[in-house]
Formats: sequence, structure tokens, C-alpha cells
Amino acid sequence: MTLPAAVALALCLAVSYAAAADTPAVKPPPDLSKGEALFNSRCAACHGIGAKGTPVGPPFLDKIYEPNHHADSAFYRAPEMGVRAHHWTFGDMPKIPGINRDDLTQIIAYIRWLQKQAGIF
Ligand code: HEC
Repeated sequence: MTLPAAVALALCLAVSYAAAADTPAVKPPPDLSKGEALFNSRCAACHGIGAKGTPVGPPFLDKIYEPNHHADSAFYRAPEMGVRAHHWTFGDMPKIPGINRDDLTQIIAYIRWLQKQAGIF
């Protein structure tokens, strides 16, 4: 390989790496934007932006949260009742006050969309 070609290749790789690192995640469709906003304000502190998890809560992009393992009913129940730690070592999830079923329906639709994007089901 000639030197200029090697330089061009290296530049190319650097540029595509930078582009990949900067590319924001695919935007959710507009009908999920309410669910996204609710998720970000009520759940993301522990479950992470994009449901990627944080040091204080699990990611919903983990296989165990796909619909056959954790049906939507589990997603309604968790904020209403709280969750005793059983899958992880983060500790218990507290009840999330002031959130109604309509809000949860929107949040769940958004979480399922994120899970689909991540290819877990
Ligand atoms: C204060 C932190 C915190 C917040 C806020 C929070 N969670 Fe959790 N959540 C957790 C932790 C920790 C677990 C893991 C418990 C375990 O070990 O299985 C969990 C688990 C869950 C589970 C799994 C329940 C099961 O049956 O295993 C669901 C569903 C869930 N959360 C939904 C939500 C939703 C929806 C919101 C927002 C409305 C939310 N969480 C907000 C900390 C949180």
C-alpha cells in the first residue's frame, strides 16, 4: 500500500469511528414521545436513558425483560407496588408515586420499542 493510501484509509477509519460515536440513537416515532418523556423523568434515574441501566438500576435491554419473561403486567405492577430485589444486587425498587396507568401504558410502549431496537425480541 502506498503511503497516501494508508493515510487516506486511516483518516477514513478515524472519521467513521467519530461519526459512529457521535451518532445519536435512532429517534423514537412521534407517538412514543410522551412515553419517552415520562420514562426519562420517572424511570431513567435508575434504569438509565435509553433503558441502558445505571449503577442503581438494571437495564431493560437485558433479555430477562423481554415480553415473555416480564410481560407488560410486570411493568404496570413495579411502579405501583415497588419491587423486592430478586434478579440483581441493586436493592429494592421503591413505589413510584403519582403515576397512573395511562402514563404506564405510554412508558411501556416506549420501553418495548427500545427493546426492539436493541434486538432483544
Ligand atoms: C429508585 C430507582 C428506580 C426507579 C426510579 C425505577 N426503578 Fe424499576 N427497578 C429498580 C431496581 C433496583 C430494580 C431491580 C430489582 C431486582 O433486583 O429485580 C427494578 C426493577 C424493575 C422492573 C422489573 C420487575 C420485576 O418483576 O422483576 C420493572 C418492570 C421496573 N423496574 C419498572 C420501572 C418503571 C416503569 C419505572 C418508572 C416508572 C421504574 N422502574 C423506576 C429501581 C428503580
